[in-house]
Amino acid sequence: MNGTPLTQQQLLTQQHYLSKDAGDFAAFVESVSHNATLTDYPQASNIEQNAVVYSRSTVTRACSTPEEKKTLMAEWIKVWTDGPGVLMITQAMDHQVIDRANETFERIINQQKADGGGSGDHFAKAGANDRIWNALEKHGKGDPENFTHYYANEAIALASEAWLGAGYQITAQVNRVNPGSAAQSAHRDYHLGFMAEDQILKYPMHVHQLSPALTLQGAIAHCDMPLASGPTLYLPYSQHFSEGYVAFTRDEFQQYFNKHRSQLELKKGDMVFFNPALMHAAGENKTADIYRLANLLQVSSAFGRAMESIDHLGLIDAIYPTLVKPNTAGTLTKDQIVNVISACADGYPFPTNLDTDLPAGGMAPKTQQQYLLEALDDNTNHEILLERLQSLTRKQSLT
Ligand SMILES: [Fe+2]
Repeated sequence: MNGTPLTQQQLLTQQHYLSKDAGDFAAFVESVSHNATLTDYPQASNIEQNAVVYSRSTVTRACSTPEEKKTLMAEWIKVWTDGPGVLMITQAMDHQVIDRANETFERIINQQKADGGGSGDHFAKAGANDRIWNALEKHGKGDPENFTHYYANEAIALASEAWLGAGYQITAQVNRVNPGSAAQSAHRDYHLGFMAEDQILKYPMHVHQLSPALTLQGAIAHCDMPLASGPTLYLPYSQHFSEGYVAFTRDEFQQYFNKHRSQLELKKGDMVFFNPALMHAAGENKTADIYRLANLLQVSSAFGRAMESIDHLGLIDAIYPTLVKPNTAGTLTKDQIVNVISACADGYPFPTNLDTDLPAGGMAPKTQQQYLLEALDDNTNHEILLERLQSLTRKQSLT
């Protein structure tokens, strides 16, 4: 800026909107340079590489009275907010429950392969992993009895309630990372963590700060995971860095992560819960024979839903003809057309069915709004647009 001071308006804009180069690296390094201590987390059994570790017996004891439950939940909230952002509960799930779930998961993976569907995902190269999207529903329908034992687990419920309050909704995605698979690059998770940079920049700063409060990330180890098998890498305290959704893809941040990250060895039955804004990545599986199997939980807040349900398809059916003419004649500007589309079509691609609605390039599938914009650009026939949107609705909800 050659020393030209910013105006008050420019400062205000800078305060509420991030730019592509937002995030000062030195400030980031300072923000992650902390050490957690047991004094801060008196119910923990130990601190391991800055992750706060609890025993299952602590969870069971806490669940015996509402007061003790609240005390432990408050301590966990402190871990995820002020603290390092990640906690582990050792041996939180009985092995026989896990073993039986593994039988179901293996059956589903084999069935997916037999059906000819690639069972990997868009986060890794083909063959590197096997993924079960919507493992919650497939698990529950495939083995209702085991599902009941699995989700009766008090650690899952306690962590979910602690972060999200009442009415939370669980989704689960099983990931089996095969020998030889590469590490992921370090990232943050859903919601903003799933977006491309140009989308991220459209959300104001307070939404960047709010987004992590709407989901909780969890991982349940379904086999022993020695370090060589690549259990998740974390950078404790990195959830504090407000500009992280934009800054973390940059080289200096990635390099810092690779040098300073933690990695906890997990045993079958251990659980990890972390703030979705924590910088993390799946590690490289350097073994020749460990198929690293985890059930990844993503628990969502009951909030983030509109008060009324809208028949978007019916509304678009009614509105589309009234948009085509002014769009062609130029009697409404492009921005005005976009304003109407924002009011009548769904602009968010989730929730969806990731078996049938996998994104084509990028992390997120196309939205109704994108289909509608493209249709107007191409002057698509009304019926064809509706068919496309009906097909999208089917793909989103197909079971
Ligand atoms: Fe992730």
